[in-house]
Amino acid sequence: MAAIVPMFSAVASSTRHILLLLRCISFAKKALVRISAEGLRFSTDEGSSIEAFVFLDKALFTSYTYHAPEPASSQDDPPEPPFFEIDLQSLLETLNIFSLSDLTSSTRSGGYDDFAAHRLNRHAGMNAFTNHAMGVTGVCNFSYNGEGGALSIHMFESGVTTTCDLTTYEADTVEDIPFNRDSLSVKTIMRAKFLLEAVTELNSVNPASMTVFASPGSASKPNLSLSAIGALGTAAIDFTTATSSETPVLESLYCPTETSASYPFAALKAAQRAMASATKVSLRLDDEGVLSLQFLIELEVGSSDGSGAVAFVDFRIVPLVDDEGAREHGGESTSE
Ligand SMILES: *[C@@H]1O[C@H](CO)[C@@H](O)[C@H](O)[C@H]1NC(C)=O
Ligand SMILES: *[C@@H]1O[C@H](CO)[C@@H](O)[C@H](O)[C@H]1NC(C)=O
Repeated sequence: MAAIVPMFSAVASSTRHILLLLRCISFAKKALVRISAEGLRFSTDEGSSIEAFVFLDKALFTSYTYHAPEPASSQDDPPEPPFFEIDLQSLLETLNIFSLSDLTSSTRSGGYDDFAAHRLNRHAGMNAFTNHAMGVTGVCNFSYNGEGGALSIHMFESGVTTTCDLTTYEADTVEDIPFNRDSLSVKTIMRAKFLLEAVTELNSVNPASMTVFASPGSASKPNLSLSAIGALGTAAIDFTTATSSETPVLESLYCPTETSASYPFAALKAAQRAMASATKVSLRLDDEGVLSLQFLIELEVGSSDGSGAVAFVDFRIVPLVDDEGAREHGGESTSE
């Protein structure tokens, strides 16, 4: 009899990049997981006003197998790919234990740190040859066997196997916050660091909301401005497309007409970890004022050809309607 083949199983030789990406959306306790032949999609949300998602492409794993559930009969459409909820904090804790001993985490600026590897090998009772031959210090195996089953994580490291079965919860099909990418009112790209600095500065006035203002360019108006009014005062950060400026620079700006919209500040705080991990961010507003922040994250995946992989973390934030913005003028805070 053939061994039972799980519906899904994937192996990663380092969980550091997975941990980095999942932490970016860890503002919520639970995450919705969708498994497909192309990869794993994790999403989190806060009510129906903030949504974040990250796609872990199968290329981020050393092996990735997914056997789609069979249709009930040949006439039926194949069943939907599995989706379920998991406790994201538990998953992060599990992966964190594994990556603590992931030696590559101590060698941020490229290059294999032989000394650290040697030390770790001695510590783990492995010889350097074994380590070089395998090229990894351990592997992490994720598997899932269909509805109601656990998401199992097996970690093999230095001869020690750790198993963790994460309970999966039945999830309602969550509709994504609609974002009309074909009808944008603003699109700009900047270094994620600039956005992080701006949000950190605005946070100092303890605001309830943040206003985005964009203008197609007049001498008296900034190209893009992020502003907030809070209990402790007002703050605004202007951005420009002019590279010779002291002001934070936008790499590109599309804005056919003057636009402004406000968002709950708590949503921007939820994205702070993504801002800190990303290199660049694409900030877009659609014609309904929905804000999309797409973060480009460079991963130091130990790929054999040395090429750097990238991943995207997306946030979508629903704008406040006008009187909500006015009500929050008093500095009433929805955060904390
Ligand atoms: C990962 O776990 C699954 C389920 O236990 C198993 O079928 C698969 O062979 C494992 N893969 C590796 C590389 O250990
Ligand atoms: C940004 O504003 C300046 C004026 O301050 C204008 O000359 C420039 O065209 C604007 N850039 C874009 C992309 O609209």
